[in-house]
Parts: sequence; structure tokens; C-alpha cells
Amino acid sequence: MATQILSVNILRFFHSGSFIFLCLLCSLKAVYAYEEIETTKSYQLHRSHVLQLSSLLPSSVCNPSPKGTHNKGTSLKVVHKRGPCSQLTQHNTNAPNLTHILLLDQARVNSLQSRLSNSVQYISKATTVPAKSGISVGTGDYIVTVGLGTPAKQVSLIFDTGSDFTWTQCQPCAAYCQKQKEPIFDPSKSKSYTNITCSSALCSQLRSATSTSPGCSSSTCVYGISYGDGTYSTGFFGKEKLSLTSTDVFNGFLFGCGQNNRGNFAQSAGLFGLGRDPLSFVSQTAQKYGKYFSYCLPSSSSLTGFLSFGKGGTAGDSKSVKFTPLLTNSKGASFYFINMVGISVGGQKLSIPTSVFSKARNIIDSGTVITRLPPTAYDSLKSNFRRMMSDYPMTDGISIFDTCYDFSDYDTVSVPKISFYFGGGVEFEVDLSGILYPVSTSKWCLAVAANDDDTDMAVFGNFQQLTYDVIYDVAGGRLGFGPGGCD
Ligand SMILES: *[C@@H]1O[C@H](CO)[C@@H](O)[C@H](O)[C@H]1NC(C)=O
Ligand SMILES: *[C@@H]1O[C@H](CO)[C@@H](O)[C@H](O)[C@H]1NC(C)=O
Repeated sequence: MATQILSVNILRFFHSGSFIFLCLLCSLKAVYAYEEIETTKSYQLHRSHVLQLSSLLPSSVCNPSPKGTHNKGTSLKVVHKRGPCSQLTQHNTNAPNLTHILLLDQARVNSLQSRLSNSVQYISKATTVPAKSGISVGTGDYIVTVGLGTPAKQVSLIFDTGSDFTWTQCQPCAAYCQKQKEPIFDPSKSKSYTNITCSSALCSQLRSATSTSPGCSSSTCVYGISYGDGTYSTGFFGKEKLSLTSTDVFNGFLFGCGQNNRGNFAQSAGLFGLGRDPLSFVSQTAQKYGKYFSYCLPSSSSLTGFLSFGKGGTAGDSKSVKFTPLLTNSKGASFYFINMVGISVGGQKLSIPTSVFSKARNIIDSGTVITRLPPTAYDSLKSNFRRMMSDYPMTDGISIFDTCYDFSDYDTVSVPKISFYFGGGVEFEVDLSGILYPVSTSKWCLAVAANDDDTDMAVFGNFQQLTYDVIYDVAGGRLGFGPGGCD
């Protein structure tokens, strides 16, 4: 069972990006009436966000962020797979529905958890999701475009910190290739492509990078990788020139040249693995970038973010960036473990024993949409959130969401702030765009979910990471969060 890539967020379509903080103009109602000592509006503003619902209607026009070309290390533009900036799905009428998206997200989480624990548990908990070829669903939200081969051909890849191996669909597509936006990469037309042989020591490295033993075909090393949502790719293990920019070029980058590919990668060309395995992009480029990268995921699918490599400028040293230790675990060696230690809602720290968090262990992942918490922690978050939102009518839950509101009668709503606390004294205040998931224009749900069991691995998902500069200083053993990262 291997990695899993899927997830996504149709909801981002509902975000226009510019959430308006109406501050004192709005009616704050008595959301925090239970806190009798705190009655002034200005105080409440420190405890809640004012969300203007009409500002969250979907935009069909791409509005690139200026930071897409900012000067911190080497930067690639990040776009949401199904937003107007990606052009991946322009002619696609088969947009996945929310139930399907959340099912894929759950399949991804199950697969990540299975890599940490034993396979018996995986089998009993697996979510079966049929992979449908040609349909734009699942498999990671965010895409970057890189150059491959000589001359360089552009390929748009889903980037994923929860997996390691980079692959793209390749001609002649001996078994099957899905439709993709760019022409399918043809190694026979590149001067710099070489096959890795079965006898090469590199071939045996595939085992840890793909969780699958390599095969052999006419002395060429064959990889296979499958993901919990049913997506898979298999093909030749090759070496090729990879160009991030005209100056950042890597000769002999090891990747998968996929001859049989199916699943939920939309019309992207494949996958860009940013885990910590020796075959990941991060490890293969360690000499140049020192295992240092960062990204910002935009608040809306009609905005752009960035993925940058190397320390470059000074953003990582900025005072506004807070660092928490990045931990390792021999069982989930390629994951990025962090230490969640607490949660606050509306400025009130929840009384959750820290042992609840340490028992679960916690990773940060760019490909899981919704944060998964130990049930004990989630129950406390949920009940406090509901109490502070008691002015608003609740409505049915959907899929993994159980705390949903009907905002039909509201133009603006007041939403309690949520913070997660991490080791090293780091408070991470979730951006307004990362608290409520817009299921429809009137129905919004608390965008956090519970694991089945307190011992299941917790995942800090990408919906909660929106708008932050998330810095992976892998060599330095720390993870940084900088507010306003995409601005
Ligand atoms: C949503 O997708 C799921 C899974 O593919 C499917 O079973 C369901 O019928 C769909 N629901 C709607 C309303 O289209
Ligand atoms: C790579 O190996 C495969 C399988 O042996 C072969 O079909 C293909 O031509 C090789 N490509 C190159 C560039 O050597």
C-alpha cells in the first residue's frame, strides 16, 4: 500500500479570496456571551472573525498573486488543480462532488496512517474508491510546472509532501496513459534521457521510495507505485534533466517514466514527490537547496501561490515566522512529523491533555485537505465551536463533517478564531479561509474532522494551511509558519 495522493477541495471555488474584516461595522451578536467578563466589541474582534459570505462567491477569472514571482530562492507558481489558473480542467464537465472529494481525502488519510502502522489495520479501515480514468477527481490539489528533458518540455505535476517518488506519464504509453493538458513526455525525443538498469544499486532504492519492489524488463528497472485512492503508475525508472527555471537545472534526476497510469490525477502529467526519502526531489537536490523549501497555498482557487526551493532571501529569518521542531519517526520515515500540543477556540485554550496529542503523533501534509484530530481533541474543539456559534442554525452534517450551519438568512457571520499550538511554543492561528468549508452558498461546515481512534496518526491538512508561508527546513529540523505568505 503506498502513498496516496488525492484529496482536493471543490470548496475553494467558493472563495473569492478577499475576506473582508468588517471590524466594528458588523454586528457581533452575543457569540461570546458565555464569557461574561468580555463584552466589548474590540475585545471580541480578537476572538472572532467576521465573515462576509457574499465575498466568498466563486471567481471564474484567474487573479495571479504578485508573489508568484517573488524572489525567495527559486520559485514556482502554484495553482489549484481545478481553479481558473490551472487550465487543466477547462473542458472538463465532470467536476467531482463534495462527497466524492471527502471520500478521496479519507482514503488518503487511511493510506498515510497505514504506512505508519501495520497492514492489518489498513485493510480493516481501507476506503475503497474506484479510480475513474479521465475524470478530474482527487489526487492532490496543487500543481507546479517544471521542464523535463533536452530540449525541455513542460509538465504540470501535483506536488505532494506525503509521498516521495516523482513520475510522469511517458510515451509510448505501452499500456495506458490518461488524457493530460500538455503533450505526454517522450523520452525518445530527449537527448538526455537514460534508463536505469536492473543491476544498478539505484534500482533497489525504489523499494523505500515507492513501497513496492522494483521489477525488471529487458534489463531496464521497472517501478510501480499505487496510492490509496486507486491511482497507480508503473513504468521505466529513468534519469533525465529536470529544469525548474533556466538556471536551476538538475542533470540525472531520477524519476518514473510511466507506461501504465490511471487514477485521480486530473489532467496533470504526474506527481512531484516532496517527502524525505532519498529518492524524493528534496533529497536529490539537497546539494543545491540544502533540503529547504516552502510553499504558500492561496485562499482561493482563483489566486496563485508558490513553491520555492532554497533559503534564498530572508523570509525564513523574518520575525513573523515561527518555527516548531520537525520530528522523525522510524516507522514513517518519509513523513514530516510535527508536535501538536493544544488547540484554542475563540481565544480560549481547550483543556485537552497533551498525552492525547503525543499518543496520536501528527504529520503535516500538503495533499490531505481536512485536518484529522484524535477524537478526544476533536470533540472538545467541536463542542466549544458549537457553543460559540450557537446563534446560528445548525444543519445536517455531510461525510466527515458533523458541524454544519445554514447561513441562508445571513450576509455576514461571526466565526470564532481557531489556533493550533505546536512544540516550541508556536501558536498557529488558522486563516479565516481555513475554518469553514463552504458546502454550498448557504451551508458551511467546520473544516476539521476526527480520526476513528485516539491512537490514529493526526494529519495537519492543507485547508488549514491556506495563506501561510509553510517552511520546511528539513536539514535544520524545523518547520516554520509565516502569516500572509501568498501576499
Ligand atoms: C457524488 O459522488 C459519489 C461518489 O462518486 C456518488 O456515489 C454520488 O452519487 C454523487 N452524488 C451526487 C449528488 O452526484
Ligand atoms: C528504456 O527501456 C525500455 C525497456 O527496455 C526500452 O523499450 C526503451 O527503448 C529504453 N529507452 C532508452 C532511451 O534506452
